[in-house]
Amino acid sequence: MSESVFKCRIEDVPPPPRGLRFHVGEGSFRTPGFLVRYGDDFRAYCNCCAHLQLELDLNPGMFFDTDDRFLMCSTHAALFDPADGRCVAGPCLGKFLESLPLRVSADSITVERRVRVGACDNNQCMVDTTT
Ligand code: FES
Repeated sequence: MSESVFKCRIEDVPPPPRGLRFHVGEGSFRTPGFLVRYGDDFRAYCNCCAHLQLELDLNPGMFFDTDDRFLMCSTHAALFDPADGRCVAGPCLGKFLESLPLRVSADSITVERRVRVGACDNNQCMVDTTT
């Protein structure tokens, strides 16, 4: 069973190039994530690169490249497809950001996930992918 770990209003999610930073979990299970608008839809990912345990947005909240087309690691300029988090350029080419499932209602977004250590596909963050 999954539990809601983060909820916000739809209008809280800014348009590109910005995204909404959040955290899931508590204490040592606290993991950074972010929400972005993607066309008329939304995507959420752990805010953790696919190759190093670094948050993508050196400038907090700035997640897109200059064209607002790709998500970008501002430390190494790696690019990620916002549709699925796949790295299309950079040191983690072909790897994926850890996607977080969303539930979008008329006026709110809920990110649902249980939290435990080491379950991330990158084995670097603390989000349980088994639900
Ligand atoms: S930390 Fe992986 S591309 Fe920057």
